[in-house]
Amino acid sequence: AADDRKFSVLIAGGGSTYTPGIVLTLLNGLDKFPLRKLKFYDNDGERQKKIADAARILVKERAPEIEFEATTNPAEAFTDVDFVMAQIRVGKYAMRSLDEKIPLKHGVVGQETTGPGGIAYGLRSIPGVIELVDYMEKYSPNAWMLNYSNPAAIVAEATRRLRPNSKIINICDMPIGIMDRMAQIVGLKDRNDLVFRYYGLNHFGWWTDVRDKTGKDLMPQLKKHVAKHGYLVDDDYEEGIEPSWEETFKMAADVYALDPTTLPNTYLKYYMYPTQVVKHSDPNYTRTDEVEDHRQKLVFGECARIVENGTAKDTGFKPDDHSTYIVDLCTAIAYDTKQRMLAIIPNEGAISNIDPTAMVEVPCLFGANGAERLAMGKAATYQTGMITEQNSVEKLAVDALLEHSYTKLWQAFSLCKIVPDAGIAKDILDDMIVANKDYWPELN
Ligand code: NAD
Ligand code: LMR
Repeated sequence: AADDRKFSVLIAGGGSTYTPGIVLTLLNGLDKFPLRKLKFYDNDGERQKKIADAARILVKERAPEIEFEATTNPAEAFTDVDFVMAQIRVGKYAMRSLDEKIPLKHGVVGQETTGPGGIAYGLRSIPGVIELVDYMEKYSPNAWMLNYSNPAAIVAEATRRLRPNSKIINICDMPIGIMDRMAQIVGLKDRNDLVFRYYGLNHFGWWTDVRDKTGKDLMPQLKKHVAKHGYLVDDDYEEGIEPSWEETFKMAADVYALDPTTLPNTYLKYYMYPTQVVKHSDPNYTRTDEVEDHRQKLVFGECARIVENGTAKDTGFKPDDHSTYIVDLCTAIAYDTKQRMLAIIPNEGAISNIDPTAMVEVPCLFGANGAERLAMGKAATYQTGMITEQNSVEKLAVDALLEHSYTKLWQAFSLCKIVPDAGIAKDILDDMIVANKDYWPELN
């Protein structure tokens, strides 16, 4: 019999700035991934409504047969769902801003997923993501969750320990965006034209091999470009790019220089050049301010415009790497395609000389059973040292939350490569405890 299934998708964190892109990608791809229902869930109904009112118009104009609903009620949201796309930000931009500004005040990199800021966010994010998993298992036990919520490495370590049998797959769009850039550099259409080997932790990994589908080795051409321009591409010069991303893509050249046998993930810049990053940071205007002034304004402004005009026919919302990746993953699971894509999963031998319990980012085959990891072999000495240290930081952060341990959290902060010593780690930690008092358990 013909496969006439249609799927029900829930976006958890409906008020996210990334939601409209996902809605557009879903609506453009109904021939490959048909929908019967699209729902939004958020615990901030007012924020979500601004996106949902525009999305409702989009759905009505392009696919009126799809049932659309936005709710703050978990039972309504999670009942009768096949896929949950999770992208929540516990504490929202107000807390992200502190994750960035508190470390910077102490002369340390302040970043959403890196160092003390990332750990602080992790301790807020874990209970929020676990709550989503539990809602899914209660109301739609057969559903899959694809989770973008950051800091993905720490959240993934927590889901491995707390919900080892749950159908949650933690994912990241950073290497995906870089691979779209690689494709552009070598003149291919998109990332799906590349066959790659990659290993590491989330926001902390390396490509060891990139080829086209005929088997041609693309590494020499890519290395030549990255050595000179980092991952900046022609489109950046033509269409413009936010200043912080321009800097990040450019700095890939310096990160690459440290290991010319591989190609690096961009966020390694924070670990290898923290002094330079801090020097280029403005403690009074961080990435959060930039997101609020650019992406958030654009997205919410466009939603308001759609609602005011009562039509989305002329909308500028476009599919992007973030939205196409999560829809590709759902499609691969739904139709058991075994497409090769990255996920953050328990190592279990994928990197042979790294702790089997580490949550690593490696290529996997995606199908009806979720993600099947591919063996990437042995990490080189440099990468082994980096990964082992960083993974211990991530494990200690989860230990600290579960055990309510001040000492473990202090260890996590001080073991971070970007924190110069335990004294500074303690000063940052003590400020972070005050700032996160509404979110963290009491530590002792
Ligand atoms: P955002 O603040 O615009 O949206 C997040 C939404 O989550 C908000 O509407 C907020 O109200 C909601 N929320 C917060 N806590 C919640 C909870 N406990 N339950 C339900 N909803 C909750 O954030 P954004 O910048 O669009 O990013 C969303 C998330 O996706 C963040 O965690 C971000 O770090 C992550 N992200 C990940 C990647 C990746 O590749 N891994 C890329 C981009 C963004
Ligand atoms: C975000 O988009 O907020 C982050 O996940 C990455 C960035 O752009 O800083």
